[in-house]
Order: sequence, then C-alpha cells, then structure tokens
Amino acid sequence: MRSFRAAIITVSDAGFAGERADESGPLIRDMLIQGGYEVVLRRILPDERKDLAQYLSALCDQRQADLILTTGGTGFSPRDYTPEATMDIAERVVPGIPEAMRAYSLQKTNRAMLSRSVAVIRKQTLIINLPGSPRAAKENLECILPALEHGLAIMTGTAKNCAGLP
Ligand code: MTE
Repeated sequence: MRSFRAAIITVSDAGFAGERADESGPLIRDMLIQGGYEVVLRRILPDERKDLAQYLSALCDQRQADLILTTGGTGFSPRDYTPEATMDIAERVVPGIPEAMRAYSLQKTNRAMLSRSVAVIRKQTLIINLPGSPRAAKENLECILPALEHGLAIMTGTAKNCAGLP
C-alpha cells in the first residue's frame, strides 16, 4: 500500500496570534506518522471562514495532499466556522466519518455531541474536521484512522474495489 500524503491545519485565532501553543497539530502529526502517512504540510490559521475555505480548496485543487485534517473551530463559539468553511468547498459529503467519531466519542464524554465536525471530498482529497483540544483530537482520530486508508485507496484510484483490503 502506498503512503498517503497528509496536511494538518490547526484553526485557532489564539494559536495564529501566538498566544496559545498548538498541541493538537503535533499530536496529530505523530499519530499520522505512526500510521504510515507522509505529513507534507502543517499550518496554523485563524478562524476566518472565507480564508480557510480558500486555503482548503487550493490544497485540494493543487493535489498537495490526499488527506487534510483540520483541528479546532467545530464548536459553538461565535468564531467557530470550520465546518462551514469545509462545506463551502465540498464536492461530496462523507457523513459516516463524523457519525463514527461522535458515536465513539459519546462513550467518553456527552460533550462529544457539541462538535459540529464534517468530512468531505474535493477532487482527490478527503478533508476531515477534528475538534480542537488535544484529547478530543486524539480520541476522534484514533476512532477513524483504521478505516481511512481503505477510503483513500478507493478515492485516489490506488485500489479499484473493496476486495482484498483489510
Ligand atoms: N470528543 C472527544 N472524543 N473528546 C472530547 O473531549 N470535547 C467536545 C467535543 N468533542 C471532546 C470531543 C467539546 S467539549 C467540544 S466544545 C467540541 O468537541 C468542539 O470542540 P472545538 O470547538 O475545539 O472544535
């Protein structure tokens, strides 16, 4: 199986301003590397819907990554617009991924229902929103990681069908 290219985007006004250390970005990077991914890019961006949407679409359209994980901005705060920015540039929606993340996470905290995260496909890139705290990001990612490789293989044409894949 080829190694897929992943980009990690931390969405946080405080992180972008340098007022808060980004713990989730490095944690996600380590989990992805452990899972056999090549992490090609990591950025911190502010909670600006239009700018984030533009940035995400450029990454997809230039085929810079097979997988983009965002972290942060999925909650109820007035500046939380990561899911909307993601939907703005979506071509296809992947509801099963956030459904699985919330079902898994609800076993750990009832606050899991407060994450509005979405997953979408644009061209040959899968974008998934993770919540912002390191603990939440880790718990959400550990739930979906085992199934992702199969989806990415089908999406990128590396695998033609589901037969023979774990
Ligand atoms: N999911 C898991 N697995 N573990 C958590 O601790 N925290 C929740 C939720 N999802 C949490 C979780 C909380 S408290 C919030 S407010 C939402 O994610 C949104 O987080 P965000 O605004 O940082 O994106």
